[in-house]
Amino acid sequence: MAIARANPGITIRELSTVAELELAIQLEKEVWRCDDSDVVPITLAVATRAAGSIWLGAFEGDDLIGFAFALPSFDEGGTAFHSHTLGVGEAYQSSGVGYQLKLAQREKALALGIKKMTWTFDPLRSRNAHLNFCKLGVISDRYEIDFYGSKSSSPMHSNSTDRLWVTWNLAEPRVDQRLKRASGADESQNSHAVAKSATRVGQPIQDSNTPCRSQAGHSLDRFWIAGTLHLNLRRCSFDLPQIVRREFD
Ligand SMILES: CC(C)(COP(=O)(O)OP(=O)(O)OC[C@H]1O[C@@H](n2cnc3c(N)ncnc32)[C@H](O)[C@@H]1OP(=O)(O)O)[C@@H](O)C(=O)NCCC(=O)NCCS
Repeated sequence: MAIARANPGITIRELSTVAELELAIQLEKEVWRCDDSDVVPITLAVATRAAGSIWLGAFEGDDLIGFAFALPSFDEGGTAFHSHTLGVGEAYQSSGVGYQLKLAQREKALALGIKKMTWTFDPLRSRNAHLNFCKLGVISDRYEIDFYGSKSSSPMHSNSTDRLWVTWNLAEPRVDQRLKRASGADESQNSHAVAKSATRVGQPIQDSNTPCRSQAGHSLDRFWIAGTLHLNLRRCSFDLPQIVRREFD
């Protein structure tokens, strides 16, 4: 049964066969451009699904173009889901499929009586940050250094595997209101304007890639800290994780 509709012609539904889980793992390999050793083994995928994990796929016809995998977890003494992977095929990225998969994950979790979902994401990826904070309304108070270890075959991990651990309070009115809006961009931009960035990296006026600090006091006395990154990650010639770790220290 279709759980949710994404774009016209795209259906989101649970992955119900071993063959469909294999398609998801193949897509994981393509999206992360990684070796077999860095994807979920099929036996584990089958076992996690049987043990209550949520495996969802976004289909265009018979083609799997996106998937989301969340496993049951314990968080702060209560039951939750931890979303381990969300991936959308490159040709379909930034067209709302990832958002629709998250909505379907939420719908499914709430139907099971679970009100919290956690996951991690690379805070240097602005698309992921926009999706998570602005569109979905997650919160975060944890920065994890080298979360998946320092070695991985995926070029997406070339800037380390530092991650923000985020919590999505699925039944919270704030989240509900966020989802009813088209985008949370306004709130995010307002927050930035108020916060005044504590750190700016890669400003066009800078010749070097040295981060330029403004007065942190401006941010601190408003109880906000913001960092602004104006850059193309692929062209970074400095050690970005080191800079970010230092600023969040
Ligand atoms: C991250 C990912 C799952 C998101 O799915 P998606 O279908 O591409 O995302 P959506 O289109 O639903 O939402 C992306 C939002 O970011 C916006 N966006 C796109 N590029 C952006 C950028 N460079 N900076 C900020 N926002 C950006 C999009 O416009 C959209 O917002 P809007 O609807 O307000 O316009 C997908 O891009 C992906 O598979 N990426 C590679 C793997 C990955 O990083 N997975 C997540 C970690 S497990």
